[in-house]
Amino acid sequence: MAGLKADFGHYTHAIVRGIPASLAENALRTHAGEEVDLAEAQREEEAYVEVLRAKLGLEVVELPADESLPDCVFVEDAAVVCGDTALITRTGAESRRRETEEMKAALKDLNLNLVEMTDENATLDGGDVLFTGQEFFVGLSKRTNQRGAEILADVFKDYAVSTVPVLEGLHLKGFCSMGGPGLIVIGSSEPAQKALKIMQQMSDHRYDKLTVPDDAAANCVYMNLPNKGHVLLHCTPEQYPESAKVFEKLKDYMLIPVSNLEKVKVDGALTCCSVLINKKANV
Ligand code: GLY
Repeated sequence: MAGLKADFGHYTHAIVRGIPASLAENALRTHAGEEVDLAEAQREEEAYVEVLRAKLGLEVVELPADESLPDCVFVEDAAVVCGDTALITRTGAESRRRETEEMKAALKDLNLNLVEMTDENATLDGGDVLFTGQEFFVGLSKRTNQRGAEILADVFKDYAVSTVPVLEGLHLKGFCSMGGPGLIVIGSSEPAQKALKIMQQMSDHRYDKLTVPDDAAANCVYMNLPNKGHVLLHCTPEQYPESAKVFEKLKDYMLIPVSNLEKVKVDGALTCCSVLINKKANV
């Protein structure tokens, strides 16, 4: 079994995509509720991209928004990248399948080895894929099925792949993410805690956990960057005050609160809005 990937969290590039006006009315959402303020969602997205580009120095590839694809800003679902291999997914929602076209072209331009999930019995959203640096956990959810997980295991053969039932919410990473090497950030709800227990039982590795009161706040973006060290994009105190206090206690991190008040209304989380790539791994 592979050990901790030495360059876990190292990234040089990010792929993001603009927000189409159609997101406000037509993006998929698990709960009908408050209307999305489109201008505010676009400001949030610009601020997110600015953090990646200006603050963190990543090379950001910005794909154009497509009005016929209301969810296209959530690029994470269209591809899973690990090392120099990119798996182009077959997204669980049929209305999102064409999102992979622009993604495929962008990943090809970055000279990654592309594998396409073409099996018509398979579905997989990147939001269901948690890579810990040592192994993959794949959420079996409304969007991702067993066949999708099997294909991912076949593509990333160096790593163990275990499946985890997602009992509530849209995606596995709706209530967890990596907060550092060997550190799983997890929400407090019963389904989240159950999922963590399953992950711990199935793994040969020991993980530390960082529990936050709000499930949605457990979705954060971890990076380990030259001259910056451990970096964590996490929820703002305005959105999740109690969870933000947990992150604020982390030592030796560059902590970057990022607002996600609008995109969360259509089930968008922080990891959803970028595909992170380490081109240095490929030279
Ligand atoms: N709105 C994000 C999704 O449903 O996939």
